Amino acid sequence: MQALLGIDIGTSGCKALLIATDGAVIAADTATYPMSQPRPGWTEQDPELWIEGARKAVAGALAKAPATEILCIGLSGQMHGLTPLDGRHQVLRPAILWNDQRNGAECAAITEAAGGIDGLLAATNNRMLVGYTGGKILWMRNHEPDLFARMKVFLNPKDYLRFRLTGEIATEVSDASGTGLFDVRRRAWATGLIGAIGIDPDLLPPVHESKVISGRISAAGAALFGLPKGIPVAGGGGDSVIQTIGSGVIAPGELQTTIGTAGILAAALDAPQNNPDGRLQVFCNVAADKWHCMGVSLNAGGAMGWYRDTLCVGPDGAKPSFDAIVEEAAATPAGALGLLFLPYLNGERCPHPDPTARGAFIGLTGRHGRGAITRALMEGVVHAFADMHSLMKPMGIDGRIVNASGGGAKSPLWRQIQADIFGCDVVTTDSAAEGAAFGAALVAGLAVDVWPDAATAVTTCRNLTTEHPDPMTGAVYAHAHQIYRNLYPLLSDSFAALGDRIFDQ
Ligand code: XUL
Repeated sequence: MQALLGIDIGTSGCKALLIATDGAVIAADTATYPMSQPRPGWTEQDPELWIEGARKAVAGALAKAPATEILCIGLSGQMHGLTPLDGRHQVLRPAILWNDQRNGAECAAITEAAGGIDGLLAATNNRMLVGYTGGKILWMRNHEPDLFARMKVFLNPKDYLRFRLTGEIATEVSDASGTGLFDVRRRAWATGLIGAIGIDPDLLPPVHESKVISGRISAAGAALFGLPKGIPVAGGGGDSVIQTIGSGVIAPGELQTTIGTAGILAAALDAPQNNPDGRLQVFCNVAADKWHCMGVSLNAGGAMGWYRDTLCVGPDGAKPSFDAIVEEAAATPAGALGLLFLPYLNGERCPHPDPTARGAFIGLTGRHGRGAITRALMEGVVHAFADMHSLMKPMGIDGRIVNASGGGAKSPLWRQIQADIFGCDVVTTDSAAEGAAFGAALVAGLAVDVWPDAATAVTTCRNLTTEHPDPMTGAVYAHAHQIYRNLYPLLSDSFAALGDRIFDQ
């Protein structure tokens, strides 16, 4: 049977997924690996863990479907990570990951070199967020000058896997966007900015469009991964970008929400619209004639996990199941009896780029029991999506349908809350459950012309569920949302003051 192989280098593990040319899943396997935190705020991974994880996951998937002929391989992975290589393409130090917080000073220096936020937006259409690769490169220059002097090129995580599969040094437009050094409007490196910060342009790998065949399995790759020599490997894409196409979201008006630890609101764009004040992330899409717009709220499913594990434990330490507490929430009316939750438990990225922001329940009364508190939390996560959407609306991203994904999309109540707050149908697709690896397999199919274009490729994503909006409930939420939006400006100074060291004993 002919198949497409998607390989996703995640933060906690690697997934390999084989799909047929009609999009049906043939086999999948996952291998986990750890992330190290050598200092507070630092996150690193030895790239060899990715290779070992990919080796195991590919072998596991192939063992379940031994008679498959792989037409093409697509790669996806955690974005923004810095894998520095020397002149012999040896890894110089553990990769610095997307969630590492060490390089605030370097991001500020890059912004200044660009002539401030406006200069940066003109060069790349994005701010230089701490997570992005650009600040990590400068951090190495400032703090590890000897290693930096030996760095000849850097790769993002999935691109290091590409190198080990094919011997090719290359990236593609979506991950290049996430370096913060890429002009997403021109789909090319931002050479002016790179010159202004004084780094050698040769450090940046060649960039392809995502569906371009970037190389073929080499003899060494074949021996290491147990794959036939010569199979083409497509450019692929960064996970947050490629999972959007992987859940079928490509047309104007379609929104994707992901309730994982963080909450992501994403849409495809037909043009590289200006990023309002740099508060969203505007990247190149894996479809060559499209762009990708997303907002990331740092606390979604993570807020629910915190709540269950701290406020819902019984006297014996037993934690109720999520289903049990969500059932209590479902028995409470929409609007949670006038209780609101601000989900900024670990600061926020979008729409408020504020590391000092804090979570809050506002409007507590003696009437509020656990069901109302749970419901307020679930509604607060969706109000945060709607808040990000208000930045997208002036860009013409209207949201006539929401495609829900991530662990939170398994809850019918959370999907219904999304339908009522967005005021449109909320669907889930079978492919979304496979995560970024499905998008990677679709891009592999585009590379070898299984589908003529992205719009045709996403017809393989099949709807599983649909929730319709209820206008009466929507009116309650519209009122609640106005109150929600007013709260952050009222409370932001107090949040910052609560971070005073006097409380940090
Ligand atoms: C995207 C981002 C994360 C990582 C996680 O901007 O920071 O989604 O890609 O894998």
